Amino acid sequence: MKEATITAPSTGLKGSVIIPGDKSISHRSVMFGALAKATTEITNFLQGADCLSTISCFRKMGIEIENTPERILVHGKGLHGLSAPDSTLDTGNSGTTTRLISGILAGQNFSSILSGDDSLNSRPMARIMEPLNSMGAKITSIDGNNCAPLRIEPGTLHSIHYHSKVASAQVKSAILLAGLYADDTTAVTEPVLSRNHTELMLTGFGANIASETHADGTATASITPCEELYAQKIQVPGDISSAAYFIAAGLLVPGSEILVKNVGINPTRAGILKVCEAMGADITYLNETSAGGEPTADLLVRYSPLKATVVEGSIIPTLIDEIPVIAIMAAFAEGTTIIRDAAELKVKETNRIDTVVQNLRAMGGTVTPTDDGMIIEGTGALKGAHINSHLDHRIAMAFAIAGLVAEGDTVIGDSQCVDVSYPAFFKTIAQLR
Ligand code: S3P
Repeated sequence: MKEATITAPSTGLKGSVIIPGDKSISHRSVMFGALAKATTEITNFLQGADCLSTISCFRKMGIEIENTPERILVHGKGLHGLSAPDSTLDTGNSGTTTRLISGILAGQNFSSILSGDDSLNSRPMARIMEPLNSMGAKITSIDGNNCAPLRIEPGTLHSIHYHSKVASAQVKSAILLAGLYADDTTAVTEPVLSRNHTELMLTGFGANIASETHADGTATASITPCEELYAQKIQVPGDISSAAYFIAAGLLVPGSEILVKNVGINPTRAGILKVCEAMGADITYLNETSAGGEPTADLLVRYSPLKATVVEGSIIPTLIDEIPVIAIMAAFAEGTTIIRDAAELKVKETNRIDTVVQNLRAMGGTVTPTDDGMIIEGTGALKGAHINSHLDHRIAMAFAIAGLVAEGDTVIGDSQCVDVSYPAFFKTIAQLR
């Protein structure tokens, strides 16, 4: 188990960072490529542990996947081309792998078992089991606790219109993927639009998808079964969830100016940029472009005195993974920042209300947990501490950024957990100093 020690730099952080590929899009490119006819070519794929779990699951189901530093080639076998795995599909730490694959496996004519690490196997799966089973899938929790390991037996799927209580792209995507194998149009309505990569990408692969956001803010996506999906060339944009750490570093470390390059700024993901703006951040958008319906930009981030804000309501799903680092920014903002409507934090890789509060307090921060978020006083100072990452990559990275502006050394425990989404994270910090 590794530790990383972070100390505040003596001058501002300068330079540029090329952000690695988006995790959500990387997962989906392999999954959809496997279900498409012919070969899907993926560039800027995220070589993080979560996405490698997705690759290994599809290899186990007979899909040939060539993984080279330049590109990934997924030799898809069509909608009905997967074969039965000869052992448990190991989804590691990855909720996206587990929940999206469940939707695909629900429509196969073979049985399978999905299981991951301790964190993954304690995360709620009823949210996908319930809608998928109501479509006719046969998914059971082997330990009877609505968590993985999951057993998935062949079932005959029929269409549903599911009204989800949570705005979750994983739930939505699992249902839409099962909808590829259903008898008619399957729809999901969510309380607020969650990230829409599945809708955009499946459309590109030739699926019949319709999406609509209603006047009351709820959003519906639907899929009508098609004969086949067709291979695509996918250039994965940089992951705004990874960019968030360097945006925060640039804003917080006095004298910094960082060019954060190749950031995906899909509006269903870019809530952190709105929060930064509300906090008074100096961020300039450069080189805005778009590929496959996914807009990207380079972001020039300069040190900025921040002010507190309220983060709530429909913006929450667009920044849910960035809340740990937003909490760090809030500790340095003038005033009291309130984060609410974010109860989903409790069912991430860790309970991120607890793990943020525990570690922020260890650094001398003033923070109060609430049922659906937290209240952070902008005290303007933190002191170095030993951080318990609880093996949660986003906790490790958020508190490493805190370490850049804390007094004294900050030691990130189990720092290797950043490999889940950003293997080069600590190297990149070092390069900016
Ligand atoms: C993801 C959706 C989100 C997010 C996760 C990735 C996806 O989870 O937190 O990191 O790729 O669909 P939920 O669907 O649980 O909100």
